[in-house]
Amino acid sequence: MDIKKRLTDALADVFAELKITPEVEITVRPSSVKKFGDYQINCIMQIASQLKISPLSLAERIAEHLRKTPTYQHTVSHIDVVAPGFINLFLNDDALAKMLEVALADDRLGVENVISKTIVVDYSSPNVAKEMHVGHLRSTIIGDAVVRTLNFLGHHVIRANHIGDWGTQFGMLIALLEEQQHESSRSLSGLEAFYREAKRRDETDPAFSKKAREYVVKLQQGDAHCRTLWKQLVHITMEQNQRTYQRLNVTLGPQDIMGESLYNPMLPGIVDDLLTRGIAEESRGAVVVYLPEYQNKEGESMGVIIRKKDGAYLYTTTDIACAKYRYETLHADRMLYYIDARQHQHLMQAWAIVRKAGYVPPEVSLEHHMFGVMLDKSGKPFKTREGGTVKLSDLLDEAVFRAAQIVSAKSPHLDAGEQRYLANAIGIGAVKYADLSKNRTTDYVFDWDNMLSFEGNTAPYIQYAFARIASILRRVTTDRISGPVVISNDKEHTLAVKLLQFEETLHRVAKDGTPHVMCAWLYDLAGAFSRFYTDCPILNALEPAQTASRLKLAELTARTLKMGLTMLGIDVPERM
Ligand code: ARG
Repeated sequence: MDIKKRLTDALADVFAELKITPEVEITVRPSSVKKFGDYQINCIMQIASQLKISPLSLAERIAEHLRKTPTYQHTVSHIDVVAPGFINLFLNDDALAKMLEVALADDRLGVENVISKTIVVDYSSPNVAKEMHVGHLRSTIIGDAVVRTLNFLGHHVIRANHIGDWGTQFGMLIALLEEQQHESSRSLSGLEAFYREAKRRDETDPAFSKKAREYVVKLQQGDAHCRTLWKQLVHITMEQNQRTYQRLNVTLGPQDIMGESLYNPMLPGIVDDLLTRGIAEESRGAVVVYLPEYQNKEGESMGVIIRKKDGAYLYTTTDIACAKYRYETLHADRMLYYIDARQHQHLMQAWAIVRKAGYVPPEVSLEHHMFGVMLDKSGKPFKTREGGTVKLSDLLDEAVFRAAQIVSAKSPHLDAGEQRYLANAIGIGAVKYADLSKNRTTDYVFDWDNMLSFEGNTAPYIQYAFARIASILRRVTTDRISGPVVISNDKEHTLAVKLLQFEETLHRVAKDGTPHVMCAWLYDLAGAFSRFYTDCPILNALEPAQTASRLKLAELTARTLKMGLTMLGIDVPERM
């Protein structure tokens, strides 16, 4: 029940009837100002200027036709044409009530399954033998929310955890792992320390570094001993990361790992192919692709190296192979990459080569959904007091610790177990929501007090809105009469319209890959409910029929809030 889509489709039919094929998109969008109606048609001025006719008379003609379409007769109570060329649509209360009943009777809240596409989502993608850092946090959280949304809408989603599990650094890492295993059977304790130690030895101990070089070659040749050690490193790292995924309530699992090593066998063939087709050329021993669309200061096309002089392949080569694989082998119709903004140029270059070579056809989109870095309150990159990168597990511990203090102050009546559960739900939820609710292309300021506040667009605010309704519903005795939803005033009307915008919100998140749209809508929904609840008594309504109807509105609000938070992977406690 996508109202926006219904209205838009009917409008498109009217344009067809009038034999107008506009070059701009036909748009009907929800309105936030009451006097402009519930939805507004706002594409008329642009179309009129294209056609060189008066927007107002075009709007009037369109309105006249719209009034005759069945969709508008069912769902719209009146249509206002306003200068200079807008059409405001006011939805019909009976139609709203009927749609709410449909949503109430459906586990999916009336959201339809779409014709499914195969969509690959590249997200999280940490590096082996390193701790996940805050940059991976953003990718992991945002990517997972989009994955959940796409899945719910019915798409076939392939999660791709493009871990950094290949490269020359593995020589020194497996050499050190081998040594430590001789010493004792203990596994890597701190990954960061392990990595640093391998590096130190590689730089200071010639025998060690010689062995490291040998091991790189052996590993690449598929030597069994080296491969076993390498697999162990990957395993230990990903086991640790898996615990973080679980804490974050992120749906990634071991089956989603598609690391850089997967594409390694494809690389020689790709370089050869690009060379023979004249897309790449040799330049001082290296293999380079020149891209005229990327120019340096002197106006020369930029050369992207895909194989170094020593025969080594690069991160770019891997991403070329990776896109090719996702199209050819995984049959992706669309690919989304959640990677921070600093890798934008890298991806654009890799994809320019991919397109040039025709490895992925133009109708399959390659989308870089980038985001900025996390800043501290003073606007500097987020670091520990000592200036190191913040470990994700430490960050989550602190979130839960801070939330626990709030919970014990606010909800002393709950028992210890419940308080622990709540602290976790609120703490982790707050960190996730703070990230998800920001428009993700920009840097964002990480501020504990803001994100844990019960006021404003935060996880605790939305979670509390849900818990409050759940508590109202718990007070209802079962023998209360039931009855249909009736929309009888303004506050109910606004709440109803918001509730029914769940589906179009999901579609926007899916299309643009932007979970902040979901957060903004949840915040609006919670606000609409709160204004409804202030003005419209539920259990003490004048008429029993009113109580019945309002209870249904409350129930649907609770279920919708819960579903929305679930799309973000945020826990929804029943009591707070
Ligand atoms: N491992 C990389 C990093 O930590 C991110 C990989 C992103 N995905 C990709 N296809 N390049 O920076």
